[in-house]
Amino acid sequence: MKLNIALLAGDGIGPEVIDQAVKVSDAVAAKFGHDITWKPALTGAAAIDAVGEPYPDETHEICKSSDAVLFGAIGDPKYDNDPSAPVRPEQGLLKMRKALGLFANVRPTFVFPSLLDKSPLKKERIEGTDLVFLRELTGGIYFGEKGRRDNRNTAYDNCVYTKDEVTRLARKGFELAMTRSKRLCCVDKANVLETSRLWRETVQGLEAEYPEVTVSYEFVDAVAMRLVQWPSDYDVLITENLFGDILTDEASVISGSMGLMPSASLGSDIGLFEPIHGSYPQAAGKNIANPMATVLSAAMMFENFGLAEEGKAIRDAVNKALNEGVVTEDLSDGAKAYGTKEVGDWLASNI
Ligand code: IPM
Ligand code: MN
Repeated sequence: MKLNIALLAGDGIGPEVIDQAVKVSDAVAAKFGHDITWKPALTGAAAIDAVGEPYPDETHEICKSSDAVLFGAIGDPKYDNDPSAPVRPEQGLLKMRKALGLFANVRPTFVFPSLLDKSPLKKERIEGTDLVFLRELTGGIYFGEKGRRDNRNTAYDNCVYTKDEVTRLARKGFELAMTRSKRLCCVDKANVLETSRLWRETVQGLEAEYPEVTVSYEFVDAVAMRLVQWPSDYDVLITENLFGDILTDEASVISGSMGLMPSASLGSDIGLFEPIHGSYPQAAGKNIANPMATVLSAAMMFENFGLAEEGKAIRDAVNKALNEGVVTEDLSDGAKAYGTKEVGDWLASNI
C-alpha cells in the first residue's frame, strides 16, 4: 500500500517520540511491502515560534492531502501561566480537530500482564482491564461561545450539543461495542445538565437499533470513582468532550504509565493518531521519554487502514520489549533504563 502520512511532531518530547514511531513504521513498511512518504509539518508552540500560528494553513493543506496524521505532542510552559497570551499552542490542536472533522476520539486503556505491579492500583483490581473511551472531540464546552462580561469580572464557556453530534458519536460507540463485549456505558451528568439529558435521550433513542448491546447510563462523578475501583467492569464508554478529557487521563494511569497509551481521532477519511500524554517539557531533549504510546498510535494507524497484521507486529514488539525490560525510566523501577532512541531502535529491529 502507498501511504502519505503527515508528520506533526509538535513540542517538548514530541519530536523524539515521533522519530521512534517513524523508525518502527518504516520497519513495518519494509517487512510488509508498503511505501510510506512522511510529510513533516509545523504545529503547536513550534509553529507559533516559526510563523506566529499554531496550526498554519500550510500544515492544514499537508494534512488534508495525506492519508493520515501522526502527531507527537503540543504545549509549552511559556504559555501556561500567561492568561493574556493572544495565541496558545493548544488552539492549534483544537483547530486541527475541527478542520479535519475528527469528532470521535478513541482512547483505549488496557493492562500489560508484565506490568501489573507498576500500576498504582492493586493487581487484583486491574487484571483483565480492557476498555475504550469514545470521547466526543469537536463540540461541547471546548467549542461553545466563551468570553468575559461585567467589565471582565465574569467569564463564561458555553456547553452546547446538537442531537446530530451526539448521534454520530453514539453510533460509533454502539458499533464498537458490537465488535467487543456488547456493553456500552453512556457517561453524563443528566441529573444536572441539559446537554447531558440530550445525550441520554439520544442514546436511549438508538438502543432499539442495536438490540444486542446492553447500555448503562452512569453519572460522570460515579464513573470517576468506579474507574479506579473496578476498571475491568467497563468495556466501551461514550462521553462528551470535557468529561472524556478528564476521565481518559484518569484511566491512563491504570496501565502503569501514561507513556503507554495511544489514541486515534476519527470522523473523516483522514485519521489522526497520537499518544495521550502531553509534551512533558521537563524531559524534552533528554532522551528519556517513553516512545511506546506514540509507537502504539502508529499501530492504531495501520489497523485503521485495515492492516491488522502490521498493527499486530508493532504490538508484539512492544509486548516483547516490556517482557524483556527494554523500557525507559518511567517503567524501569531502578533497573537499567533505556533511552527513547534505544527503545525505538530495539522495537524497529524486532518487527
Ligand atoms: C488532550 C489534551 C488536549 C485536550 C489539550 C492539549 C487541548 O489534553 O488531547 O486530551 O484538552 O483535548
Ligand atoms: Mn487531555
